Amino acid sequence: TTVFVLNGPNLNLLGLREPEIYGSTTLDEIAAMLEDRGLELGLTIDMRQTNHEGMLVDWLHEAQAEGARAVLLNAGAYTHTSIALLDACRAITTPVIEVHLSDPKTREPFRHQSYIGMAAARTVEGHGADSYRIALEAVASGEV
Ligand code: DQA
Repeated sequence: TTVFVLNGPNLNLLGLREPEIYGSTTLDEIAAMLEDRGLELGLTIDMRQTNHEGMLVDWLHEAQAEGARAVLLNAGAYTHTSIALLDACRAITTPVIEVHLSDPKTREPFRHQSYIGMAAARTVEGHGADSYRIALEAVASGEV
């Protein structure tokens, strides 16, 4: 059983990028942590990152086509702008969990709107790298 973990723009710089907001853990370290936890939970992790909006749309379609159990989606700033990603989340039956390291709701007003949240089965935000683990555990427990 595979869980897609899709990461959007600027998340390739995690660990270097505004560490006071996003922490010092890199995306590779998060991938390794999720793979370890996935092994314990019986879930295979397919972790990806892109800076391109349309690539995320293609990967959401692929999650459905491949029969993924769920998608953990950190769409970065596209969260707050992308109707195309909202539509893609709605176009697939694969459950999508919205993930953020920071808590956008406590940041600038332009981060308060989430298009992903309008289609997500659940949102996990504000726990740093742990947000991903919590989201994976929600899949494993059958909550999502
Ligand atoms: C983010 C929050 C977004 O507002 C921001 O644009 C990001 C990262 C997070 O994980 O906290 O790129 O998705």
